[in-house]
Amino acid sequence: MKALVLSGGSGTRLRPFTHSMPKQLIPIANKPVLVHVLENIRDLGVREAGIIVGDRAQQIEQALGDGSGLGMRITYIPQERPLGLAHCVSLARPFLGRDDFVMYLGDNMLPDGVTDVAAEFTARRPDAQVVVHKVSDPRAFGVAELAADGRVERLVEKPQEPRSDLAMVGVYFFTPAIHRAVASIRPSARGELEITDAVQWLLSHGGEVRASEYAGYWKDTGRAEDVLECNQRILEGLSPHVAGHIDRDSTISGNVVIEPGARVLMSRIEGPAMIGAGSVIENSHVGPGTCIGRDCELRGTRLTNSIVLEGARISGVPGLHSSLIGRGSQVGPSAPRSAHHRLVVGDDAWIEVA
Ligand code: TTP
Repeated sequence: MKALVLSGGSGTRLRPFTHSMPKQLIPIANKPVLVHVLENIRDLGVREAGIIVGDRAQQIEQALGDGSGLGMRITYIPQERPLGLAHCVSLARPFLGRDDFVMYLGDNMLPDGVTDVAAEFTARRPDAQVVVHKVSDPRAFGVAELAADGRVERLVEKPQEPRSDLAMVGVYFFTPAIHRAVASIRPSARGELEITDAVQWLLSHGGEVRASEYAGYWKDTGRAEDVLECNQRILEGLSPHVAGHIDRDSTISGNVVIEPGARVLMSRIEGPAMIGAGSVIENSHVGPGTCIGRDCELRGTRLTNSIVLEGARISGVPGLHSSLIGRGSQVGPSAPRSAHHRLVVGDDAWIEVA
């Protein structure tokens, strides 16, 4: 089996980050979402992955190289414009050949893994096997209606009156039967070749489509709040580990990872939390639910439930929470006694002032 990982797209919901980086490289517990994805795929015993890349191809290739660092072989497949998930399958056809494959959206986190689903697919080999997850409000999702034996009877995109609470998550298992389906469908009203339409085509042409329920934690990291929630959840599962330096005047509690070369001085780190390599935390209180990237500086700051990316500097801000701070950003106090805020903020940023 091969893997097809979708890492193009426009990522409009994650601006301003996606003005300068692909959303699949946003770190969750200091590791890009895309690396979490590839590790899950490797856990299935799959070693060959094709990655669909858009206009941020260069950064993705720089981060993953030929895949050998992950014990995999990666082939990059450029997509000129985001023309839909099924379009990605048609672009990847030469790479996929006649092999079965798992298609995985590069921004979806399923930390509990999909090995059971893969085993079901391999044992029975239906034309397609979708992964579904119970959600409280299915109206925002592609919803699968199932027969009692686990066969999919119908797929409905964002139904107003859902007849099932099973949303399709971003992982699909396919036999080569999907290629005929993809070649037969037309673009949807939004101009994309939809994978739901291709799977529905299989159903309407007598194909067997099955669904497996994934009961673990699932998050599509398409928006800032999803990234923060997912980060907190993944941090909770980490094993505590201190490689950096913590001075005598600092305390750490709970699940905390301090990476090599990080220094914690006169501070409190409250887990779950992670401090990246080479960062300095001084006179600050960090966590819970917070991840500081590499080479950051925090001084006199109180920060909870947040992610700070590489090289950012924050000083003298006592009440930061639920924040996502981009690479190399600087956040600090205004001039003494100033009652004003001063902002130098890039396009599509989002700021809340108390
Ligand atoms: P989406 O999150 O649905 O789309 P998007 O990246 O355009 O985001 P937004 O709605 O915020 O603008 O895409 C799901 C995943 O599939 C994501 O990892 C991007 C990828 N993708 C492609 O690689 N090619 C495509 O044509 C599309 C539509 C998505």
